[in-house]
Amino acid sequence: MREEFEENGYYVLRGVLTEQEVDRLARPIRKGFDSGDYDSHRGEGVYPEPGVYSMGPRVLEADPEIAEVSLAHPRIVAAIEELFDEPATLAQYWSIMRPPGTGVTDEPFVKGSGAHYDYKPWRCVGSYVKWMFAVIPFVDYLESAGPLVVSPGSHRQTSVLPSDGRVHPVDAARVPKAGDITLVDPNLRKGDVVLMHGFTWHEARPNYGNLARCGLYMKFHAKSSPPACGPTIYPTAVHDALSPEMQHLVPYHRGDGQYAAVRDEPVGGVDAGQLLIEDADERVLMLGSNESGWRLPRFDAGEDPSAHILDVCNVMGSVQAGALAQLGLMIPWLSWLQDTGLRQEESGETRCRVYGHRLEESAPEVSGPGASDGYAWLSAGELTDALADGLLLEGEDVMTWLHMWQNEEDEDGNAVTRSFGVPSTHVQYFRFNGNGNEPGTYRVGEFDAEGKPKQDAVKAA
Ligand SMILES: [Fe+2]
Repeated sequence: MREEFEENGYYVLRGVLTEQEVDRLARPIRKGFDSGDYDSHRGEGVYPEPGVYSMGPRVLEADPEIAEVSLAHPRIVAAIEELFDEPATLAQYWSIMRPPGTGVTDEPFVKGSGAHYDYKPWRCVGSYVKWMFAVIPFVDYLESAGPLVVSPGSHRQTSVLPSDGRVHPVDAARVPKAGDITLVDPNLRKGDVVLMHGFTWHEARPNYGNLARCGLYMKFHAKSSPPACGPTIYPTAVHDALSPEMQHLVPYHRGDGQYAAVRDEPVGGVDAGQLLIEDADERVLMLGSNESGWRLPRFDAGEDPSAHILDVCNVMGSVQAGALAQLGLMIPWLSWLQDTGLRQEESGETRCRVYGHRLEESAPEVSGPGASDGYAWLSAGELTDALADGLLLEGEDVMTWLHMWQNEEDEDGNAVTRSFGVPSTHVQYFRFNGNGNEPGTYRVGEFDAEGKPKQDAVKAA
């Protein structure tokens, strides 16, 4: 399995689920589409007119027991963790429904014109560097229904570069023109599961048949490769329904309905964002004074109002705007460290997302309403002294986050590969992962003077 997966960028587990297991999984999901209980759709019509309809984790709140025939299926999890060689974390739980006629237009479909891959530094479900898909088709993905085709070996054209001591840039393959892409049909049938490397190019073909093409598209990342935008939040119901040995798959959850969803508007379950901003000399921006004590900058978090279900839980846009308005600081990218509960709030569940960033300059001037009671750039030693003097708010946590950041470790002290995360609206600056490019790579992790991803960070093949 490993050799084939590493060579081709995908591996099909044949007949992993029985017909009955697939039907048990598909039943509540199909019911959700039928009753309009889904998150997003693309296209003109309303279900079941042609279009791409999608449903996030909401189905797991009312029907958490389907986890055991999907995200926590023992054979699927065993295969994923064997390929990662470490524990996995569920990132995406996304059902797609493509009714008959979806993708069919007056023009004949050009094979390869929909080829893309899903390394997306602007999404919680795409901003990691060691991850894979696990796709469960609910029906046979026949030629007529529109197979999921893959480009063998394409994942090897993207490379994760060494980190600068904090985050890893990525030389991301630029998906070329349709005619220059080799795509094969892995012949997925009901009961099969395809494991697909996160950097593998793929395409969904139009549905010319008379059967609804429906399936579950899960993404898992290695524990050592956290999402730069932060984790997707799941309903607590699914975490609690898992057996103890599977609960590590869904560590980030809320029980008050504030999980990844698009209802009247995007919901993500993140209330605040806190920033550990380091300067070029390893000093950290702290607000306050020696009299009032020191704290990390914190901002109210908000979802991108235009977010699709796969964009939710990424609150970077609001945090970035907060840093600019409150502190006059432009923060081009962030990388997630940890989520915490807000200690100040006594009632209700709340979640604060902590991100790291390193500036290229030394101790820049900070000005704005957020710094009205003072600020300083403090070294690790000065922070330790402030902690000892009882002057550091959330002191132990701040020291932990700083250690995690500067040593590229997670909260358990294990090594991690952090990468670059940007607001979901930054999708407009990226072209590499959709087809039609000149062959070569795009360097994710370079930013221009305005703090936007560089447009010319490309290298020809
Ligand atoms: Fe995709």
